Amino acid sequence: MKNLVVYYSKSGNTETIAQEISKAVEGELKKIELIKDISFGWAAFTSLLGLNGKIKNVDFNVKDYDNIFIGSPVWAGKNATPINTLLNNIDFTGKNVFVFITQADNKTPNTVFESIAARVKAKGGKIIDNLFIQTEMKSPLTPGQATAPVADWINKNSKFL
Ligand SMILES: Cc1cc2nc3c(=O)[nH]c(=O)nc-3n(C[C@H](O)[C@H](O)[C@H](O)COP(=O)(O)O)c2cc1C
Repeated sequence: MKNLVVYYSKSGNTETIAQEISKAVEGELKKIELIKDISFGWAAFTSLLGLNGKIKNVDFNVKDYDNIFIGSPVWAGKNATPINTLLNNIDFTGKNVFVFITQADNKTPNTVFESIAARVKAKGGKIIDNLFIQTEMKSPLTPGQATAPVADWINKNSKFL
């Protein structure tokens, strides 16, 4: 099985999770980048409105993979805007999709999972599982903190990988 781990991360937490997932599943790691960095306020505002972040061109084709891992931080109760752009531009037909989310709040971000799932399904993908990792605004998540929850999640889904 070929695994793609694609993510957006502004301050590094989602990136740490993405790196651990990529190691665990021997997946190709691809970072989505904004053309121009944006402020906290603009990020929150545009996210709230569900806008598409202006991202750099990507150098992967989802068609080359069986499983797609998608990672995003929560911004103002929603997924980050670069992920809107990604979801609008990918054809998920026949793909298994795994979603991982980081946020500061301890409450599982179900509305974010549901919103991403609806868009993935509308484009032919199948959501297999979700992972939520709580983070702290003031101290970045360390790889050590990410290893165990990622390993558990990957083990739980090993039959797909
Ligand atoms: C613009 C912005 C809005 C945020 N909104 C929320 C929020 O609504 N709820 C929450 O729990 N955390 C929120 N956070 C915190 C991030 O979700 C959290 O720090 C996340 O782990 C950051 O991931 P990153 O380091 O990969 O960018 C927000 C952070 C930013 C920058």
